[in-house]
Amino acid sequence: MLTIAPSILSADFRDLKRQIRLAERGGADWIHLDIMDGHFVPNITFGPMIVRTVRSITKLPLDTHLMIEDPLRYIEDFREAGSTRLTVHVEACVHLHRVVERIRQAGMKPGVALNPATPVSSLEEILPFVDLVLVMTVNPGFGGQEFIPSTLAKVQKVASMIAKMRRKAVLEVDGGIGVENASDLVRAGARALVAGHSIFSQRNIPRAIRKLRTSALR
Ligand code: DX5
Ligand code: ZN
Repeated sequence: MLTIAPSILSADFRDLKRQIRLAERGGADWIHLDIMDGHFVPNITFGPMIVRTVRSITKLPLDTHLMIEDPLRYIEDFREAGSTRLTVHVEACVHLHRVVERIRQAGMKPGVALNPATPVSSLEEILPFVDLVLVMTVNPGFGGQEFIPSTLAKVQKVASMIAKMRRKAVLEVDGGIGVENASDLVRAGARALVAGHSIFSQRNIPRAIRKLRTSALR
């Protein structure tokens, strides 16, 4: 089973509803939402209001990636907006365990994300408590960046860590993913692929998603 999670960061927001319909038609499993605050990452994107809008458009699970400082403050807002999954960066949380527990108490599935330079060992204590690990394959902040090849070995490391756990977290990858590297990532152990630019920059969005899936499983 492979999950494809198109990131709407690269979608045409003039016609968001149609872009999401096209993603659904291509077989998207989740919709990935990139929340950036201009502090944790240099860029600012959107917040719970747009999440709520997306929630009203689709029934697909909303995979919400918080690239924000102090995410604890906003857990309730994203729950109310309709997020299914809430992923926070380990680098952004001093009390990561508390944040993860609060997300679960709020009724969402907690995930933790690692920047490219953050060691896999930082997952050790939190892994039993999360439903998803997001290995960033670019430095977060912008769509359409180039995949960092050294992250492939990191995906393998995280996959073997997860294999040893009783609770099997989903291993997700995000950043610079397309037909050229999807199968390497799946072979390394990734089970959920986020893709923004490689899907929404194409003229035929459903076809781009189908192509990504077939090339990932090659
Ligand atoms: C990076 C975001 C990603 C990104 C993916 O800061 O977390 O979700 O938008 O987009 P592409 O596939 O364009 O790298
Ligand atoms: Zn993301």
